[in-house]
Amino acid sequence: MDEMLQMMVLWLKAGHMIFAIFWMAGLFMLPRYFVYHQEAEPDSSENARWIEREAKLRNIILTPSLVIVWLLGLALAYTTGAFSFGWFHGKLLILLLLSGYHGFLVSYAKKLARGERSLSGNRLRLLNEVPGIAAALIVILAVIRPF
Ligand code: HEM
Repeated sequence: MDEMLQMMVLWLKAGHMIFAIFWMAGLFMLPRYFVYHQEAEPDSSENARWIEREAKLRNIILTPSLVIVWLLGLALAYTTGAFSFGWFHGKLLILLLLSGYHGFLVSYAKKLARGERSLSGNRLRLLNEVPGIAAALIVILAVIRPF
């Protein structure tokens, strides 16, 4: 029984890492797409192609990965008892903020599809730093477990 539980935790961990990578990849790519999208003329065929690429990235990679990484991560936390550790509370806080950032990106993609371009290219490039910083903090909290 113990061996089965250990094996289950390892599979959950593997799945969690795989979908965390997919989610992060999507979070890195979408704002980059926005920068290139905004360089296209508003009513051009290039603009329409970026709208399509962004919708595909959201629907095929970004949103399914967000849902799966949360489900597998919470299942992992439940089986390992992580809810009682300080590092995990810190990680949860960053993950909630990162999920909010994800929501913001999705709403910005919808705005772009409607022809609204409220952020400059420079602002979007700056926003692109968010997932990198969040990933570094998440990995440090989960691996070093400083508290
Ligand atoms: C989205 C919700 C997530 C939840 C609920 C979650 C939950 C967890 C839990 C409970 C553990 C500890 C497993 C153990 O006790 O051994 C863990 C480990 C870890 N997580 Fe997450 N996680 C999530 C997302 C992420 C993301 C997005 C990343 C990467 C950016 C990440 C990177 C890691 C790493 C590197 C470990 C350490 C694995 C090890 O020590 O073997 N997690 N996660």
